[in-house]
Amino acid sequence: MQSVPFLSLQPQHDLIRRELELGFGKVIDTSHYILGGEVVAFEKEYAAYSGVKHCVAVANGMDALYISLKLLGIAEGDEVIVPALTCVPTWMAVTRSGATIVPVDVHLESYCMDERKLEQVITHKTKAIVPVNLYGRPANLPVIAKLGSAHGIAMVEDNAQGHGASILEKHTGSFGMVAATSFYPTKNLGALGDGGAITTNSDEVAESAKRFRNYGTTQRFHHDIIGINSRLDELQAAFLRIKLKHLNDWNKERQKIARRYQDSLERVGDLILPRSVEDYVQNYHLFVVRTNQRDAFRKYMSGREVMTDIHYPVPPHLQPAYHSLGFRKGNFPISEKICETILSLPMWPGMKEEQVDYVIECTRGFFV
Ligand SMILES: Cc1ncc(COP(=O)(O)O)c(C=O)c1O
Repeated sequence: MQSVPFLSLQPQHDLIRRELELGFGKVIDTSHYILGGEVVAFEKEYAAYSGVKHCVAVANGMDALYISLKLLGIAEGDEVIVPALTCVPTWMAVTRSGATIVPVDVHLESYCMDERKLEQVITHKTKAIVPVNLYGRPANLPVIAKLGSAHGIAMVEDNAQGHGASILEKHTGSFGMVAATSFYPTKNLGALGDGGAITTNSDEVAESAKRFRNYGTTQRFHHDIIGINSRLDELQAAFLRIKLKHLNDWNKERQKIARRYQDSLERVGDLILPRSVEDYVQNYHLFVVRTNQRDAFRKYMSGREVMTDIHYPVPPHLQPAYHSLGFRKGNFPISEKICETILSLPMWPGMKEEQVDYVIECTRGFFV
């Protein structure tokens, strides 16, 4: 019996280890650790990759979301629409801005915000819509952006899981007025620590974000606004520049593994596999399946040393942290159903063919 971890970063780091070491050495040699040449170069390269004018690198994805909302002037008394199913930082960034969270349920097929439900929750207080490209699948961004524009509401994309995903060859992270992303190590483009970025075509948003992330500084010891400290450090920027060059290849590897899973697991038991939609390219940040026997399936896989995970077992509205908002089980039934039935299968660039085969064999073993 072989053992398959849920995720391994080892193959990608083995491939570029020497480059990473050289990058580390380069930063030490310059003795410039904060907002130096590596950050500036990474911002330029990631903006070009995303197909936008500006990238402003920050300390993490949660800050990227919070700063984006803050720069749109969102504050207490405003409402921000978020999907009911997401990683909790999407919600917590809104809470931190002071605005009221207005969740909408998601599509059962795409797991992303259901744009058909937006009209029902838009009010005169709505200031932003935050779709999430969950698991690396683009939300219905063109429709959401159009609806937002019609109501004068900004779309702030949460692209933390969407590096390299696209709609009609346009990368996610470039559809909204502003987009936020995370370079948490397990993301498709992951740092060797924390990191995040804002992408935008607006000169004004980019300028303000640069100021805000660095104590509101325009020039040394001059502070126009009250800001925060949320800077991507030079070392992480150096590592991200190296990894960015491999992102497309690594995403292709993920897509290849996804195709093998799709081809071999279609119509196996009651398994529901991620749906492909024409013109929507997924980066397979996670390969998420659904089954009514989720817990038994997970236990069976674990007994065969195939590690799986659940993203996410409890939706934000049912988390103790959000008890005070007064949501109850049944408020967002699709998201709740998804959380009760999903399982993420192993997926990472560099995963060996035998490992993919073994995951397929064990999955079939459970259902067939
Ligand atoms: C959808 C989503 N939004 C926001 C974040 C927050 O990113 P970070 O952990 O870098 O703060 C994450 C990652 O954890 C995420 O998956």
